[in-house]
Amino acid sequence: MKILLINGPNLNRLGKREPEHYGQTTLEDLEQDLSKYAKEHNVQLECFQSNHEGSIIDAIHEAQDKGTAGIILNPGAFTHYSYAIRDAIASITRPVIEVHISNVHAREEFRHTSVTAPVTKGQIVGLGIQGYFLALTALIRQNKERE
Ligand code: DQA
Repeated sequence: MKILLINGPNLNRLGKREPEHYGQTTLEDLEQDLSKYAKEHNVQLECFQSNHEGSIIDAIHEAQDKGTAGIILNPGAFTHYSYAIRDAIASITRPVIEVHISNVHAREEFRHTSVTAPVTKGQIVGLGIQGYFLALTALIRQNKERE
């Protein structure tokens, strides 16, 4: 089974960027640790990060066409206003789980709204980097239930 991890804008700066919100773990560390966890569960994890809306949309479409079983997506600030990413998620049938490292509900008002969440399978918020591991676990377990 193949799972795609997509991290959106500014998440390439993880570990350096506002550590009070996003912690000390770098994107490289996250991708390595999550890939290891995936491998232990016979999952092939593909990791992708982009600061560009269109590239994220392309990655979502390609995942569907390549038979990827599911997507773990942190759309960064696009969460709050990208109808184009929302439409891309709605256009595919593979499950997408939205992850936010920080508790967006405890932060500025504009972060309280997610335009993408309504078309995802579910959302994990505020649990730090652990949220990505929980999302992967959920996708693995849901896939097993379907088998
Ligand atoms: C974020 C929350 C967003 O509001 C913010 O723009 C990000 C990261 C998070 O993981 O907590 O870039 O998605």
